[in-house]
Amino acid sequence: VADIRKFYGETGLFTYDPGFTSTGSCESKITYIDGDAGVLRHRGYAIEDLAENCDFLEVAHLLLRGELPNAAERDTFESTITHHTMVHEQLTRFYQGFRRDAHPMAIMCGVVGALSAFYHDSLDINDPHHRMVSQHRLIAKMPTIAAWAYKYSTGQPFMYPKNNLSYAENFLHMMFATPCDEYKVNPVLAKAMDRILILHADHEQNASTSTVRLAGSSGANPFACIAAGIASLWGPAHGGANEAVLKMLSEIGHKDRIPEFIKRAKDKNDSFRLMGFGHRVYKNYDPRAKIMSQTCKEVLDELGVHDEPLLQIAMELERIALEDEYFVEKKLYPNVDFYSGIIFRAMGIPVSMFTCLFALARTTGWIAQWGEMIEDPHQKIGRPRQLFTGVAERKFVALADRP
Ligand code: ACO
Repeated sequence: VADIRKFYGETGLFTYDPGFTSTGSCESKITYIDGDAGVLRHRGYAIEDLAENCDFLEVAHLLLRGELPNAAERDTFESTITHHTMVHEQLTRFYQGFRRDAHPMAIMCGVVGALSAFYHDSLDINDPHHRMVSQHRLIAKMPTIAAWAYKYSTGQPFMYPKNNLSYAENFLHMMFATPCDEYKVNPVLAKAMDRILILHADHEQNASTSTVRLAGSSGANPFACIAAGIASLWGPAHGGANEAVLKMLSEIGHKDRIPEFIKRAKDKNDSFRLMGFGHRVYKNYDPRAKIMSQTCKEVLDELGVHDEPLLQIAMELERIALEDEYFVEKKLYPNVDFYSGIIFRAMGIPVSMFTCLFALARTTGWIAQWGEMIEDPHQKIGRPRQLFTGVAERKFVALADRP
């Protein structure tokens, strides 16, 4: 990196790079991806090992602090996160301002952005202790905020966090328990949820993470930056893809119609794309998709829902696309979102909550990346340039003289 700086200077070369596909915007030590080889590592650890052997909070500790925690550190980290799971009671009234049919991602953007109005005691981004408290707060409160966005849309009372439950269990409890029934979290579903959170925890400089960094580069507070990340994640080409997958499966409607949709996906005059296929970085099987596919089987076995029509369409679509010349040649494999939507649906999570779950998991990566950026001595305000193609100069025409 020092050599690159010496060669190009601090400002780098001016390049025209739509979508920043070839532009490194920062240095990072958190996540490594080799898209051609289908490799994903956090702080050097393979995602396969982390998903198999760790729980989500251990991975969160790894992303934030750089190391997997030992047993004592893990306990301390868990109790710190647990300490912050509640949100300010006044925020419950903030929810009431939304329409009941508001998309939960709209509520998430609003509520997370509003956290900065409640936690003034951790907003000094130049104070390492403040930064750490904000990081803990965001990781801890996100399940509560997401579950409450769902509860609000159904008209059910908010369920408060139960801090004797694990991170994933607590989220399921706040989603599905009601004050009048004794809800018992299914351990297989809790394990699957924990694994999904691990698989979505970080993915280096994708659109939403770059948004968080760009917003943070101006010195904005971390709650506002994460709200910006949530907004970016919402789009169907990014975090909204698993929601789009389920919508597409419903539109296909029957296995017999799959060839018609495959044909449309290949037609360059049709804007339709197979949702849940392809990835900007992975031109090989996304390693997370492999784990997700296995988790999907475990969940379906546990719930005994193999006959569900949409799931059957999904399985058949996967089979046909993986054998289709177009998809093989363009290296379009099912991505992580293809399976996560199927798992969520089987678990009874409504489609509108899918992207919220992604946001909940990715908050850990976002806030770790934000912290790394603030501590980077080379960090400066993000300011992409442009290739101007408009009219260079015009003579001013007074209002009365304009045609
Ligand atoms: N269905 C059909 N064709 C596709 C698809 C698809 N899902 N994805 C890419 N292609 C085709 C493109 O039409 C293009 O064809 P061409 O070379 O003939 O022009 C070629 O494959 C390359 O596509 P690009 O758009 O250049 O690839 P890019 O890397 O920019 O896009 C993206 C990646 C946005 C994910 C794309 O594959 C897509 O739209 N997929 C569907 C949405 C989706 O599943 N998003 C989730 C991404 S994963 C995540 O956010 C966690």
